[in-house]
Amino acid sequence: MTAKKIKTASRIESFNFPPGRKVGKRYVIESCLGRGTEGEVYQLHEIETRIKRAGKFYYPHRDPKQKISTRHARKLNTLRYCPIVLQYHHSEIITVRRQKVVAMISELCEGEPLEHWIGRYPGGRLPFYTALHVLYNLMRGLEAIHMMGEYHADVHSQNILIQPCGVRFNLKLVDFYDWGRPALYKQRQDLCDAVAVFYECLGGRACYAKLPIPIKHICAGMRRDLIIKRFGNVTGLRRYLETFDWAGML
Ligand SMILES: Nc1ncnc2c1ncn2[C@@H]1O[C@H](COP(=O)(O)OP(=O)(O)O)[C@@H](O)[C@H]1O
Ligand SMILES: [Mg+2]
Repeated sequence: MTAKKIKTASRIESFNFPPGRKVGKRYVIESCLGRGTEGEVYQLHEIETRIKRAGKFYYPHRDPKQKISTRHARKLNTLRYCPIVLQYHHSEIITVRRQKVVAMISELCEGEPLEHWIGRYPGGRLPFYTALHVLYNLMRGLEAIHMMGEYHADVHSQNILIQPCGVRFNLKLVDFYDWGRPALYKQRQDLCDAVAVFYECLGGRACYAKLPIPIKHICAGMRRDLIIKRFGNVTGLRRYLETFDWAGML
């Protein structure tokens, strides 16, 4: 009973690392990028080189045996040649309040979460072509992941980072979710989640009725069964995006 009490009292609910704090032997915190149930993500720099990196710090009670962080690191490593995936660098164990904490260090993406980016457009929605372009990039990125036999399982607008550069939109997907072994229905879930992101880009339900036919064809009334029937997988939707009849857009 006493032991249990001590354990609960020392649980780390948040790290709240301030800028300038040294973590481990090699890194210094610059700013917080996000927090979730598993841990916190910070922008940091390597002391030796001043190169900026991202570090995900897992709460020890969420990842007591480092299984979650290890699986995540392995998945990123498997997908290291997929352009939409940020490069995993290495993991290290640091000590925070006398507890072992996994710090997973990876490439820093200087883009911004898609959710924020959409919010900066008038009415909080993207022009049609811009939204189609985002979706196309997402399909190409997911297609590479699926071709490796993998899936993401948590595709939403906070886990997509966008860095537009001229006519190119560089998209990065963060925060892969471990949903067990790969399966077709998990890849199909990525397809439907990506369509939901597209729908969000276009203003969601409030704007749906006025969308052009080729765009409505993609959203399929946000019916999962219909989206799967129409496209089958992300390759099907990628092909549709490359060939749909533009006349319906005018
Ligand atoms: N490598 C990275 N580069 C830049 N920003 C990142 C990086 N990884 C995560 N982020 C930011 O931190 C947020 C939280 O990270 P994420 O891995 O999604 O953790 P969680 O959602 O579990 O808190 C993301 O939504 C994104 O804005
Ligand atoms: Mg996330």
